[in-house]
Amino acid sequence: MGISEPPRHVAIIMDGNGRWAQARGQLRPFGHQAGVKAVRRIVGAARDLGIEVLTLFAFSQENWKRPPLEVRMLMELLLTVLERELPDLHRNGIRLRVIGEHSGFSDKLRQRIAEAERHTAGNTTMTLVVAVGYGGQWDIVQAAQKVAASGREISAAALEAELATAEWPAPELLIRTGGESRISNFMLWQLAYTELYFTELLWPDADAPLLREALDWYASRERRFGGVPAAAGS
Ligand code: IPE
Ligand code: IPE
Ligand code: MG
Repeated sequence: MGISEPPRHVAIIMDGNGRWAQARGQLRPFGHQAGVKAVRRIVGAARDLGIEVLTLFAFSQENWKRPPLEVRMLMELLLTVLERELPDLHRNGIRLRVIGEHSGFSDKLRQRIAEAERHTAGNTTMTLVVAVGYGGQWDIVQAAQKVAASGREISAAALEAELATAEWPAPELLIRTGGESRISNFMLWQLAYTELYFTELLWPDADAPLLREALDWYASRERRFGGVPAAAGS
């Protein structure tokens, strides 16, 4: 029993920044800043563990509902992080991709994203996918619109080929920090058979042990995809 192959694609819902800050008597932005440090640690750990694709949910479509000041702070943080972290990502052979609905972003942010993607496009050690302005329902709808516009028949394969994540295998493992056991409109299609790991740990406290624990847990799972265990198959 158990899985011998490590996951190729790990996705993370990085939740709990606000509560982490509040627990320290600080405002929410303090938690987001600490969250960036956790991103750096987890990206390094994932790379060291040989994960091929790491997807981080950084900002959902529903997060636009937050107070304007927090939204602005998060967008500015994304802009500075893209600039500051790019040399390190590149040096570490990491290819960056940013997915989501970006029409609400400033031109400057969209340009910065495009530049960062271009700059790292040839890297092959790990792909870091950052989901910003992303929503699972949006992804399915935009994929369906593309299939329909091309005149093709709607099928699972045709839709899958148009999802924002079409280049990568579906995540074998999803981690959500922050204690909530929900998907919050993350990759609804792609998570159909993903193993889900929920932890109370708040995102700014995330470090290599979290990833190792989640991978150990994943290794103990039995994935059946609706079938029966291999030994019981006959
Ligand atoms: C996750 O932390 C970061 C984003 C959604 C941008 P939260 O900001 O949701 O933190 P909590 O859940 O309120 O603690
Ligand atoms: C999910 O966290 C989105 C991200 C981590 C980017 P939220 O804090 O927005 O989720 P809910 O509101 O608790 O479901
Ligand atoms: Mg939250």
